[in-house]
Amino acid sequence: MSAWDPNLYQKSHAFVWELGRGLLDLLGPRPGERILDLGCGTGQLSAEIAAAEAYVVGLDSSADMLGRARKSFPTLDLVQGDATRFAFNRPFDAVFSNAVLHWVPDAEAAARCIAGALRPGGRFIAEFGGKGNCAAFLAGAEATAAATGLRFRNPWYYPDASEYEQVLSLAGLRVVNISLFDRLTPLEGESGMRDWVRMFAKAVVNWRDEDAEAFLAKLEIAVRPALYREGKWWMDYRRLRVHAVRL
Ligand code: BEZ
Repeated sequence: MSAWDPNLYQKSHAFVWELGRGLLDLLGPRPGERILDLGCGTGQLSAEIAAAEAYVVGLDSSADMLGRARKSFPTLDLVQGDATRFAFNRPFDAVFSNAVLHWVPDAEAAARCIAGALRPGGRFIAEFGGKGNCAAFLAGAEATAAATGLRFRNPWYYPDASEYEQVLSLAGLRVVNISLFDRLTPLEGESGMRDWVRMFAKAVVNWRDEDAEAFLAKLEIAVRPALYREGKWWMDYRRLRVHAVRL
């Protein structure tokens, strides 16, 4: 991940960690547990884990996001690192990850690191984009890119449940529960679609900065029939939710 804008993230994308709260219930952090928040971003969910009196380490690849997390939560233990190349000296009771692993195409390497960070019996609780995530958005972006002579690519890893179960199993993690479900998610305000694209999807289409507004206006027209309803923009998220344990 690169070029994250923590200001835009905080201002218009609070739904990322607000929706992650349900995943915290599944994690059920207990006092004294050691928990790794993999891809902690600006630290909101790490802080909630710490509030349950667990000891939390937040790991993120973005110095900008960590800078914001340090300002907001100065007592958290936060480290910069790559989800496919991390290791810690002491094992964790749980690894938690919300809305991050679709950014990590080398899922096998990430799963090996996660398993390596857990004690035997430790749990891995995660949610991220699964097969079909943002399908209407991606179709609209691809059509708009083709119509404007730009290059389109889908940079995200969206596995289905059986594919991801196999990745985890090869790394020594046994799946307790895994499910794929739709979560149509409201975006904030009339500029919600543009803000989302600016925040997350710059890698999808290679528009030039000076053409951004024109491109985004065309993209809005393309995705509007599928993703604008009841006076607001929505993103067609589909989540893969995972509970696994280290063997
Ligand atoms: C997601 O949470 O599913 C997501 C967020 C940003 C880009 C792509 C997917």
